[in-house]
Amino acid sequence: MISRSTIDKVEALVKIEEVVGDFIPLKRKGKSYVGICPFHNDKSPSLTVTPHLGIYKCFACGAGGYAVKFVMEYEKMSYAEAIRYLAAKYNVEVEEDAPETPEQRAEQDEREALIAINEFADKFFTSQLFDTEEGRDVGLSYFKERGFNEDTIRQFHLGYCPNSGFALVNEAKAKGYSLERMEHLGLVKKSEKGNYYDFYRGRVIFPILSHTGRPLGFGGRDLHYVKGVSKTGKYINSPENNIYHKRDVLYGFYSAKKAISENDNVYLVEGYTDVISLFQAGVKNVVASSGTMLTEGQVKMISRLTKNITVMYDGDAAGVSAALRGIEMLLPAGLHARIIQLPPEHDPDSFARAHRDSELVEYLNNNATDFILFKARVLSKNLNNDPLKRAELVNSIVKNIADIDDVILRADYIKHCSEIFGYREEVLNVALRKLTVHKMKKQKPDEEPAELTVPLQVAQPVSEAPFDTLAAAEKNVLELLLRFGIYVVLVPDRYSYEDGTYVTSRIDQYVFDEIFAEGIAFTVPLHQKVYEEYAKIAETALTQKDIAVFFARHEDEQIQKFALDCLGAEEPVCSPEWNKRFDVVVNSMSTHVGILGNELMNDINMLKLRYLEKFKEQLMKEFETLDCNEEELTSLLQAKLSQVNSRRRQLSDLMGIVVTK
Ligand code: CTP
Ligand code: MN
Repeated sequence: MISRSTIDKVEALVKIEEVVGDFIPLKRKGKSYVGICPFHNDKSPSLTVTPHLGIYKCFACGAGGYAVKFVMEYEKMSYAEAIRYLAAKYNVEVEEDAPETPEQRAEQDEREALIAINEFADKFFTSQLFDTEEGRDVGLSYFKERGFNEDTIRQFHLGYCPNSGFALVNEAKAKGYSLERMEHLGLVKKSEKGNYYDFYRGRVIFPILSHTGRPLGFGGRDLHYVKGVSKTGKYINSPENNIYHKRDVLYGFYSAKKAISENDNVYLVEGYTDVISLFQAGVKNVVASSGTMLTEGQVKMISRLTKNITVMYDGDAAGVSAALRGIEMLLPAGLHARIIQLPPEHDPDSFARAHRDSELVEYLNNNATDFILFKARVLSKNLNNDPLKRAELVNSIVKNIADIDDVILRADYIKHCSEIFGYREEVLNVALRKLTVHKMKKQKPDEEPAELTVPLQVAQPVSEAPFDTLAAAEKNVLELLLRFGIYVVLVPDRYSYEDGTYVTSRIDQYVFDEIFAEGIAFTVPLHQKVYEEYAKIAETALTQKDIAVFFARHEDEQIQKFALDCLGAEEPVCSPEWNKRFDVVVNSMSTHVGILGNELMNDINMLKLRYLEKFKEQLMKEFETLDCNEEELTSLLQAKLSQVNSRRRQLSDLMGIVVTK
């Protein structure tokens, strides 16, 4: 047990902003700091860290607490592990209440024991590399031949495991480490005779560090590996075990994380040596997936620090196709992917060594190509005019485009692809539209469990009142806001409406402007509340989902129900009448943008029309109750009424609806 006084010392020293700041970039905001919350799929900075209270709190997902809790949750550590971690960070010596043997301590905390063993092995391998003759002659000289300098070797904890096969085993025995646990970690193996031997014997060691720099596993390279001749693999790696989860680890992440957020970009390469050579050449924001495809967990680690990823695999054809395959999954995660093609004879490691640092950086900067455009350009060269192959490639690219959330970006890609492949934009847009509608439908019930299903309840009818056309019109506008408010569409320019000129506008901006200009207030109190809440969140929401989540989690039950009712509704369908009217516009822009634009016009004009009708009704009533002797007032009302009537006719003309009288 860690002593109470140690815990007190640690708690007195920790600064919440330093603890959180080690894991995620924080920005100062008044007395607090804000950052992207690591505990949910956060897009806008929802996490607030408040130094004078010593707490962190996420306003989107509700995670919160003190520094120790943050470390526990972020690092998946036990309480004791978190205290130990913080003690190390703040140079507090950890006192135990009762002295323990390695075994006893390990029983208390298996994970901690396993990491302690890896730490021991890590130190052993580096000291073998630097402090023994065999290590220097075989291991160190190998690394030096590869061009790694001593700083780099120490930075990455590179090491050497002696060839005898018993060096680590004997040292572990002498120090009392459990050989069973070492077997679990893959450091030692049992021979047929039942004796333990060093699994990594005769190899140079590449420790795989956690994002706090603790060794989770090891890769060992056979120094004499010859492709096709050697019986064992070039590398052997730690097996999946209690502390090493391959899916959640990126090689080099620990050394790279600061540079990743500073450069707002990460280079993704394939192997250990690629990371190390680039790092040594000054390109420090580099990580490797270690020869496998990126996993979702790895993408999450990256996207906490940057949304830009530049993939750089071997220059040969196999490398390029591996890179292309690996990238597709980045797009739905909201990452912007670039790709760098190296000369065919190179991998990143050899390329870095063959060039001066400045040449390397220049090459990286000049050759990073947007992934989708790269795919379109490079693969379109291999089509040999085969129309079937071309259609296949175009479809696969349109699929990639459909994965992108940003409408404007999508439209841009469609334009480029139309140029590259010689298909008309409209044709590509139809294909895109099919995919996006399909995607939206698919996502609704099951793909977003964390975000939307939690509060889902059967929506109740908002009111039992007789059908009210104004209320219905109000609801349509709100529904459009909740589902598509931040989308950008083409709208008539309000300053030159007669000319038929169109400008781009966010849907919600247009609604705000129109409602303000017409002096409309929502007549159903709940609608007015939803509208006001929407206006509040719209300013800070980065994606439509932010808005959906905000409403789906709204504490006002009525608002929440109303929102869920809207969010669950079907895709808005454009009336054929409106397609006709805006024929020209619809054909010249992305289908999605066109349909939404039409829907917006339809909804907002209908609201204005219904509002005027209601207004007229009220005026009439007032008119009836008026004391007719007051002639002035009467004529004033009549004038107003005729204004209303003419505006009403104007609007209904626009709507294509026949208005009686
Ligand atoms: N790899 C592995 N096991 C293998 C081969 C490869 O785990 N048998 C992983 C390693 O992480 C390696 C990466 O895949 O770093 C890329 O493999 P490769 O390009 O063959 O190795 P390099 O890192 O380029 O190593 P070297 O330059 O020493 O050949
Ligand atoms: Mn290599």
